[in-house]
Amino acid sequence: MDKPILVVSTGAGISAESGIKTFRDADGLWENYPVMQVASADGFRRDPELVHEFYNARRKALLDAKPNDAHKALVELEKYYDVYVITQNVDDLHERAGQKNVLHLHGELMKIRSVTNPDYVETLDIDRLETTPATRGRNGDLMRPHIVFFQEPVPNIEKAVELVSQADVFVVIGTSLVVYPAAGLLHYVRPDTPIYYIDPNPADIPAALGVHIIKAKATEGMRILSRELTGSV
Ligand code: OAD
Repeated sequence: MDKPILVVSTGAGISAESGIKTFRDADGLWENYPVMQVASADGFRRDPELVHEFYNARRKALLDAKPNDAHKALVELEKYYDVYVITQNVDDLHERAGQKNVLHLHGELMKIRSVTNPDYVETLDIDRLETTPATRGRNGDLMRPHIVFFQEPVPNIEKAVELVSQADVFVVIGTSLVVYPAAGLLHYVRPDTPIYYIDPNPADIPAALGVHIIKAKATEGMRILSRELTGSV
């Protein structure tokens, strides 16, 4: 028999317990960095070095981080469900936990791509980070972070909408639900599909959506949810 389809939308909160800073919590990244200078298309045109430096600092933080029990619990659920993770995160902690299907909406931190040829993408090698911001590719091209900046379209959103509309269960973890189009994915869930939202400080969600809110950190919330989801399969 086919397994039911579990679609999970994750934000910065799932990686918080791995030591990666979120964006909008107290002391979050956007409190400490001018967002439009380091994460917008205009900012990159104005000062590419600054943008590379910002992302290199994020990469170094990621190297010290490991997947936590919430990432691992989502992998465990693959025994019971066809699991599809749609993440706003640019870290690779879902992949490092062993998750099979991960769709990145906002790009990937460990990749850079050519400014002149968007199809040319390189995966960064860790040693290079120590010496230089990744401004040039191995082929000599000027490179940019493989990140969806503010003011840019989100290329994977259609795939994400398609997945969400097929979900038998939909789970949202650790996002403030302020950045669109990712925040709008909730609205593509079929009417009979249960929705869970794990976050210690959840955003307001229209009651009509009937979302089950688990007000907890990701690791604790996933312990609760895994019991619920595997008990009924
Ligand atoms: P935010 O920083 O906006 O929100 C983080 C969410 O995680 C908040 O709702 C917190 O309550 C929650 N949180 C904090 N600690 C948690 C924990 N231990 N467990 C679970 N949840 C926790 O991050 P995002 O919603 O992911 O885009 O931000 C969306 C986008 O805005 C990001 O992808 C990024 C940013 O600008 C780009 O850079 C393109």
